Amino acid sequence: MKIFTEPVKLQKWAESRRLAGKKIALVPTMGYLHEGHLSLIAAAKKKGADEIVVSIFVNPIQFGPNEDYARYPRDEKADLAKCRQAGATAVFFPTPDNMYAADHSVYINEMELGNSLCGARRPGHFRGVCTVVAKLFNLAKPHFAVFGQKDYQQETIIRRMVRDLNFDVKIVVAPIVREPSGLARSSRNTYLSDAERAQALALSAALAEARAEVKRAGEVDWKTCRARIVRKLQANKLKVDYVEAVDADTLKPVTKLVAKKTTVLLAVYCGATRLIDNAVM
Ligand code: PAJ
Repeated sequence: MKIFTEPVKLQKWAESRRLAGKKIALVPTMGYLHEGHLSLIAAAKKKGADEIVVSIFVNPIQFGPNEDYARYPRDEKADLAKCRQAGATAVFFPTPDNMYAADHSVYINEMELGNSLCGARRPGHFRGVCTVVAKLFNLAKPHFAVFGQKDYQQETIIRRMVRDLNFDVKIVVAPIVREPSGLARSSRNTYLSDAERAQALALSAALAEARAEVKRAGEVDWKTCRARIVRKLQANKLKVDYVEAVDADTLKPVTKLVAKKTTVLLAVYCGATRLIDNAVM
């Protein structure tokens, strides 16, 4: 497994692999890898990639001033071992200084899908995500890149960016990997105490209940369903950031839940930790 820290070295290598006719997959991550990330590497393998590049970079420009950039969990050694084990052929481990020039001044701003949900609560977040992902596309030169459904709005925005800016990269989306309890795997779960972990189960449980109701009834009034979800979250001491139902493709709010066409997205504070989850109904 190759390890790159220099952007230009990764770029040169990627170009040579392309010239050799190899199919390159990119799996962008911020590290502290878990089963969710590893499932993306597995998906890349399954899709027939010859080279699987995992980028591990806690991207400073996607964190707000009061967010957890400084204390975001990091474990380079364990991450490298997991990448190797999972079948990555290259890991890109840049530093903020070699990703961003001191006078870096070009950003990518998605103007519509990012105005709601997490985008509305985390100003500048998706600008940071789009900018770093575009840079990673230019460096790893992937034929395709794998993202997780866990970050539903992110994945939707990246697909829009690729479409609108004609990136020659296919976007593959992999399903949410959960713990046996239902809790969506996340690097931030490491912040949770045992008691908070138990409270956090209400996220996936509430989504599963909504989904079951849609399956049973066909169509479900969102206002009533939302009130039920909020009650459940609050009963578990979770502070609601948002609970929204949107069209699965456009992210526009809906008033009815319809199977496969609507997505329910949740963001809560569990203690000081912000957790997100979602489910396509
Ligand atoms: P990070 O949170 O590390 O997630 C990296 C990728 O793993 C994302 O595509 C995310 O959706 C996916 N992922 C995380 N948890 C998952 C789970 N439980 N099941 C399936 N996939 C999961 O998302 C980012 O990093 C960053 O914003 C990034 C795209 C790397 C840009 O900096």
